[in-house]
Amino acid sequence: MEIPRSIRADYDNWNSFMESRVEFWNRASVHHTKAHCRRVLLFSLMLADSRGLSARERDILAMASVFHDSRRQSDMPDIGHGWRAAEYYKEFCELAGGLPWEPLCAAVMRWHDRHDEEGVEAITRGFPGEANGVLLYQMFKDSDALDRFRLGPRGLDVRFLRTEEARALCPWAERLWSEHGGKIE
Ligand SMILES: [Fe+2]
Ligand SMILES: [Fe+2]
Repeated sequence: MEIPRSIRADYDNWNSFMESRVEFWNRASVHHTKAHCRRVLLFSLMLADSRGLSARERDILAMASVFHDSRRQSDMPDIGHGWRAAEYYKEFCELAGGLPWEPLCAAVMRWHDRHDEEGVEAITRGFPGEANGVLLYQMFKDSDALDRFRLGPRGLDVRFLRTEEARALCPWAERLWSEHGGKIE
């Protein structure tokens, strides 16, 4: 499926960053592979574009996309993989360099494997100065959810989506699987 032109360059940059620099623990994974993270990245960038987010906010979503499932130990719910991914991202910023350290990005990752109420509460409390803190958390979880069509045509219950932009993107996300087998070109 064709990538919208407006996000092509960002997508290519973050995708090659993930391919070359982000290490995934669970190489035997079926559902939480780099290919999954690549599609989450694509959805994140599309949502950021349609919402008109700033470059910094868009990068927060992109970084969360490429790290968020890298520290899974299994394809089971594996609660805690979000926290481990956030730690990995932090270490990466400190030791490897080349990435901006955004505590909000770490929080989005850390809470992505928890219930919305917990994540919203933690981000509201921890980031009172971030106008779009909760929105970024919700948009990230929606991007992750939009790739549930990989599990089958009924993999995603759209009633659980949090944002209008994600609901609007559903037919596109569904077609990515029904017509293109999940392949992005
Ligand atoms: Fe996850
Ligand atoms: Fe994920």
